[in-house]
Amino acid sequence: MDPVLNPYSPGAGLRPRELAGRDGEITSFDVLRQRAVRRLTSRSIVMTGLRGVGKTVLLNELADRARRESWIVGKVEADRSQTRRPFRQQVAATLNRALREETGSWEIAGRLRRALATFRSFSLHTDPSGGLAIGIDIEPERGRADTGALDTDLTDLALDLAAAATELGSGVALFIDEMQDLTREELSAICQACHESGQREAQFHVVGAGLPSLPGVLAEARSYAERLFDYLPIGALPVPDASAALTRPAAEADVEWEEAAVDLVVERSAGYPYFLQEFGKAAWDYAPGPAITVDDARAGVQVGTSNLDHGFFRSRWERATPAEREYMRAMSPDGDGPSQSGELARRLRRPPTSVGPTRAGLIHKGLVYAPEHGLIAFTVPGMGSFIDRQPSG
Ligand SMILES: Nc1ncnc2c1ncn2[C@@H]1O[C@H](COP(=O)(O)OP(=O)(O)OP(=O)(O)O)[C@@H](O)[C@H]1O
Ligand SMILES: [Mg+2]
Repeated sequence: MDPVLNPYSPGAGLRPRELAGRDGEITSFDVLRQRAVRRLTSRSIVMTGLRGVGKTVLLNELADRARRESWIVGKVEADRSQTRRPFRQQVAATLNRALREETGSWEIAGRLRRALATFRSFSLHTDPSGGLAIGIDIEPERGRADTGALDTDLTDLALDLAAAATELGSGVALFIDEMQDLTREELSAICQACHESGQREAQFHVVGAGLPSLPGVLAEARSYAERLFDYLPIGALPVPDASAALTRPAAEADVEWEEAAVDLVVERSAGYPYFLQEFGKAAWDYAPGPAITVDDARAGVQVGTSNLDHGFFRSRWERATPAEREYMRAMSPDGDGPSQSGELARRLRRPPTSVGPTRAGLIHKGLVYAPEHGLIAFTVPGMGSFIDRQPSG
């Protein structure tokens, strides 16, 4: 059928036509915002899941909802590259944008004036040439957010922005994608800002997303982190939602999926949102129409799998050194895992201590993570079976 009208969106952070199966998470954040305007406190939110489950699109959806209610919304993305801007600089830039957009409609007085002055101090430390211009002339606030220590300054900023937002009938939300890649100091500063805000009933909230290793990384940064956030695991979609992710976008274009075709794609994707999009797109392009049949679905899965092999999986495989590949190959009999580190060393006929650096290298590259002490698993579903399909050596 016409690829121009193809309603599926395989990719990174591409909003699907049908954001299936995430009503629970959306409701949690709706409740948080409704409580916030009543000045009731809630824990901040951390969403965790494997690659391709839909964390980024969900984060964007939540951010849009907060923006529509005139919240002060910032969004940053962490990563491990050398070129990533420091967290402080990213926060200053995103809030600068939010404040520029919002201040046009606000009267600059009271708490807001103070919050903007605090923001100026905070941003001065990222750009000594004068700080970011918020579009209005305001002097930096002395003694607020100007120590240079991220934890103290972020807390000052969070409290002052929250006070201003409360006066304006909203709140502050900072969205952080790939949160597991922040440094310990950055995570610790976020925890402190949330902790202080909670104690002072200030409506500053973090909504983070990251790999399943994130709760552990946060707990290492601050021991109270496990009580600070509501942890929402984001996983594969249950069958009815996975089916809806396929059929609803097609129905909007008056195209029907045969029931058996839906069942096939849902089963072969195991409900993983990214695979659903990839297979759905390939099935649509292959189908002569008017409906999507089992044959089309079968072809879609085949073409989609080959696309995944050549892109999604291969790019990860190629990032690994020969020793790291050998390690991942030892994991592959466990499928989507997890594998036991000790057992892997045995399979590799190596002493456990000697495989430590390889394992650490893979964790650093984001290819595997440790769900628990002594366990290791792939960060992408289906990696084990991809490796089984690769010629050894
Ligand atoms: N709820 C959903 N229903 C249908 N499709 C979805 C859903 N969530 C995400 N998708 C699709 O899945 C793919 C992956 O989404 P996204 O990039 O948000 O995942 P992610 O968890 O952020 O992955 P990564 O960890 O690699 O950043 C996209 O193609 C997106 O359109
Ligand atoms: Mg993402």
